Amino acid sequence: MKTPEINTLGPPEPIDYSVVMEPINGDPTGKNLLSMRQLSAEDIHLYIEEAYAAERFVQDPKQRGVALLSNVEMRVVMRQPSTRTGGSLTAAMHKLGGSAVLISGMGSSSEAKGESIEDSWVAFAAQADILGIRTEEDRGPALAARVIAQAFEQDQLWQSVPVINLGDGKNEHPTQALGDEFTIYKQFGQFAGVEVAMVGDHERYRAHHSFMIGAAILGMNIIAVESKAAVVPEDLVELLGDRLTRTKDLDGAMRYANVLYLGRNPDEYTGVKKAEAARSKKLAKDYKGWVVDYQRIQKMPRDSIVLHPRPRRDELHPSVDIDPRMKDVEQMANMTPIRMAIIARHLGRSIKEAEIIHKDSEKLTP
Ligand code: CP
Repeated sequence: MKTPEINTLGPPEPIDYSVVMEPINGDPTGKNLLSMRQLSAEDIHLYIEEAYAAERFVQDPKQRGVALLSNVEMRVVMRQPSTRTGGSLTAAMHKLGGSAVLISGMGSSSEAKGESIEDSWVAFAAQADILGIRTEEDRGPALAARVIAQAFEQDQLWQSVPVINLGDGKNEHPTQALGDEFTIYKQFGQFAGVEVAMVGDHERYRAHHSFMIGAAILGMNIIAVESKAAVVPEDLVELLGDRLTRTKDLDGAMRYANVLYLGRNPDEYTGVKKAEAARSKKLAKDYKGWVVDYQRIQKMPRDSIVLHPRPRRDELHPSVDIDPRMKDVEQMANMTPIRMAIIARHLGRSIKEAEIIHKDSEKLTP
């Protein structure tokens, strides 16, 4: 008997996200922000300049914001828990005079009725002018950007809305990194040669990944305090080149660094596989040796700073809060102006230009 031919499709082709990850190249208008790899040093400075202007508007008791985006609508879809990112992006849109709806979790979505995630993204794009998205999956916001771009190309949507990545699995958290960099720039007035000691799960912590990419772009040096269980990914080792030092000595790194950047153990990603469980156990043990408290930060130079994207757990003891080197709360507050800058620029508007017009109009007021 003849064996029937099996028509195998083979492994699925990897999805090409490059079409939705255009370089920002000085003009974010209409583009997605999915990865720090889209940015140059000039692009990062553009967001920072805008964030300074946003901060001046927000902190002016007569203004509290700037009416730049009236009738503009945002959907912020957080498929993973969040206290800071979703809230600050929503606040940023309101401070720009637009509207924003924060959707936390998908419990009330039509996915419960069997709708695909792709169809959900097109539905959100049909309701809004810009989307902020967090997913458990790596490259979830990139997938959203792709299906939205396709729906636009097929004339199903009248506009293709920019997608802002608010954290995708273990991959990246670019708006966090831009806020972190804004915080460092406010402190030191430059990036070149700033020494940043980074501690935590370099393999799975997405905020570390985006920060390291930004550091490579801006000329900061990274001292990675590593656990054998969670080393700096190979692509970032390559990208950082000579700018990366790897060590196990946290205290030595703290004596030398301008910035100590901590991150919690993202153990929600630990799967059920035996090897993964063993790896996770080793990492948890190393985290115990990395607890930073008031006593420990006394080793750091007086003019150094400590950052943590939060939420924090045991790795950053609350006793540190009284030390002037702690800039983690300021770092959190800086996320609203930087996210105002991102929203405005990706929608083709400039807060800096609005400030010039505002100042000129004030001069004209008798
Ligand atoms: N830093 C950060 O992403 O915090 P949330 O998870 O609370 O948004």
